[in-house]
Amino acid sequence: MDKPKVVLGVSGGIAAYKACELLRRLTESGHDVRVVPTASALHFVGEATWSALSGHPAVTQVWESVHEVPHVRIGQEADLVVVAPATADMLAKAAHGLADDLLTNTLLTARCPVVFAPAMHTEMWENQATQENVATLRRRGAVVLEPAVGRLTGVDTGKGRFPEPGEIFEICRRVLARGSAGRDLAGRHVVVSAGGTREPLDPVRYLGNRSSGRQGYALARTAVARGARVTLVAANSELPDPAGVDVVRVGTAVQLREAVLKAAADADAVVMAAAVADFRPAHYATGKIKKRDGEEPAPVELVRNPDVLAELSADRARPGQVVVGFAAETDDVLANGRAKLARKGCDLLVVNEVGESRTFGSTENEAVVLAADGGETPVPHGPKEALADIVWDLVAGRLA
Ligand code: CTP
Repeated sequence: MDKPKVVLGVSGGIAAYKACELLRRLTESGHDVRVVPTASALHFVGEATWSALSGHPAVTQVWESVHEVPHVRIGQEADLVVVAPATADMLAKAAHGLADDLLTNTLLTARCPVVFAPAMHTEMWENQATQENVATLRRRGAVVLEPAVGRLTGVDTGKGRFPEPGEIFEICRRVLARGSAGRDLAGRHVVVSAGGTREPLDPVRYLGNRSSGRQGYALARTAVARGARVTLVAANSELPDPAGVDVVRVGTAVQLREAVLKAAADADAVVMAAAVADFRPAHYATGKIKKRDGEEPAPVELVRNPDVLAELSADRARPGQVVVGFAAETDDVLANGRAKLARKGCDLLVVNEVGESRTFGSTENEAVVLAADGGETPVPHGPKEALADIVWDLVAGRLA
């Protein structure tokens, strides 16, 4: 089989040096990558680096090898174009269809999916002009990743950071795999909760669970690749932030509830993949609880946590909002799942069978998705991303 053809467009930002790592990941995983740097990008990383890492001469000019008509051919032949980093200037040119260099020409001729990984200072990202350009590109079907939050060039911190190259690579992989299946969540805002809550007993101890967050992170990643704007409410997960996602970090069930309800206000769908503790200690000791010789330990008194899924389902923030829950069951999986679906009032419930070594922390999953309308979709054993795509198929079908 031919290697998938990827065009890596690089515009002139300091994050160009991180695009080298993305290029490496793409070539090492069997993609045929042509790098098209802009003239400004070459101020940051030179032609030799792009050529050596891609195994092809870096094409920088419309006026090189004119007999091969590069300004048309490169875009036409691509299976994916990824622009990383995408500067504010590049987003503006792409949104307005300008074609004053090889990369902008390539964007105009490409019929394949296009991913932009913006990186810039917060002010430039938040500028209304940039935001409108991003909205235009998304409306036309491009995947424009939300920049990460963190350290920027110089001393500044904020939104605008280039996402981790490994995570951009994951998005590219997903977009390529979907091919013509397209971006059916374009223009949608989805909220995903992930990880497991921790309910503190004292400053050093908590009641927690073994959820790794992997299923929720897979849901976030696959939704980005399908064109959605994604808010990920992450409870105590150690996984790296997925590229293109707004991540809100929380600790306890009460914090998770607040963050999810806030994000759900304008969401088309909410997927509760987090393992939320049903109970929390009734009292929090501000100092470390000490053992005393000859004394029995004091029992831990618990109180109920709010049921976020039931609350979301009962008070939909918008008409037609799709609410999805997860259920971890050890026995009578289907019967318990049906009862839980009815009790929680959600539209879909993904029922997993769990045990000591099953599901938690693993990269694979097996489940059945129960629907409130009686539907039942078995999901064979496979990667958590495959389950995630089935969930989004069912959600997209309900949103359509
Ligand atoms: N959930 C929630 N708020 C809680 C507990 C759970 O929103 N306080 C959500 C989880 O995110 C998940 C679903 O409810 O989507 C199912 O959680 P699960 O723990 O399996 O169900 P429980 O209601 O706790 O039922 P039980 O413990 O009796 O199995």
